[in-house]
Amino acid sequence: MNKTNRGGLEGIVAGQTRLSTVGIDGVGLNYLGYSIEDLTAYSSFEEVAYLLLYGSLPTAQELAGFLERLWAGRKIPARLRIVLEQLPASTHPMDVLRTACSALGSLEPERSFADQSRAAERLLACMPSLLVYWYHFQNSGDRIDPEVEVENDSNVDTRSIAGHFLQMLHGKTPNEMHRRALDVALILYAEHEFNASTFTARIVASTLSDFHSAITAGIGALRGPLHGGANEAAMELIEKFSSPDEAETQLLAMLSRKEKIMGFGHRVYKDCDPRSDIIQRWAKQLCDASGENTLYAVSERIEMVMRREKKMFPNLDFYSASAFHCLGIPTAMFTPLFVLSRISGWAAHIFEQRADNRLIRPSADYIGPESRKWLPMDQRC
Ligand code: COA
Repeated sequence: MNKTNRGGLEGIVAGQTRLSTVGIDGVGLNYLGYSIEDLTAYSSFEEVAYLLLYGSLPTAQELAGFLERLWAGRKIPARLRIVLEQLPASTHPMDVLRTACSALGSLEPERSFADQSRAAERLLACMPSLLVYWYHFQNSGDRIDPEVEVENDSNVDTRSIAGHFLQMLHGKTPNEMHRRALDVALILYAEHEFNASTFTARIVASTLSDFHSAITAGIGALRGPLHGGANEAAMELIEKFSSPDEAETQLLAMLSRKEKIMGFGHRVYKDCDPRSDIIQRWAKQLCDASGENTLYAVSERIEMVMRREKKMFPNLDFYSASAFHCLGIPTAMFTPLFVLSRISGWAAHIFEQRADNRLIRPSADYIGPESRKWLPMDQRC
């Protein structure tokens, strides 16, 4: 490996995609030609998921059909409920989703590649139910029924994935600001070109393996703090500090110890993460509304110090942390929320890989020992 190649496939074009452009000329994010600014201003997460899965924004009729299928797909198979109940309370919710995805692939397998859209829609619809079912069962022994449609006399769409998730989690209808904030976060998390988990899913798909195996592998890759796990790690950092001044002092100490600050930096974006501005505006609005002024002030100070000391900018995960916190979402569910959204992007990439497949199998420079003579055990020293 030479000096300019620092590993991690940095700067390597590993394939083609029509699904998104990330940071062309260092800036911007588009899904199939639509900017995330437009999508988060005018579309719902379900419209965006449809766009990714089927290649165009839905007509009213297409969206209605898609929403119906998603709503019907929220049901948890009885045998999967048993699997969820057997998992220890100490299980990280990412491991719950990984296990649940794999189990669903065995209970309702993809019958053939022609069945891939059904498998994708089912997973997209069902994963929020699985996550919240496990959460309540482990915390209070309650067996929630995701199929129950609760009375809702407000105009909040509790059939949307964001609305239904918050409804199931809190046992009450969310307000529209909370529902839409989560909806926007789901749009921002939906797709991001050849990031580590998507590339993982594509590698699995390239072996002609099944849909659930590819998604399960993607969940495993997303879990790490250098990738999706950063939003949880960012929250754990932010809530350590009781004031912006304390945050600055501690942050400087962390930087002097060369520690990484989670929620900052990016492999592809060079000047800013375009998703960050959007989620930051929502985080501010949510913090203002819930009186979490210290949380937001601490976050802003961390951002300021990182810009000043390291010329680094926040990525999507940094302000998502305070937004999710204000929505009353437990920190351990932050990365799982990323999964609930990214299933759409992963699925779209699996479809794309399969449509023009060639096994992904790169090579490595060998850096191990020269040829050696094999010796019987009694002659080895
Ligand atoms: N805090 C402090 N320093 C950081 C940093 C961070 N968040 N991210 C990168 N750096 C520093 C590294 O320490 C390294 O410094 P060095 O050259 O003096 O050793 C340099 O910047 C390059 O870092 P590296 O990890 O090699 O860059 P990368 O392209 O592989 O990094 C990330 C991309 C995202 C993995 C990296 O920025 C990171 O770990 N960020 C925190 C995790 C995170 O937020 N992940 C979510 C991404 S959306």
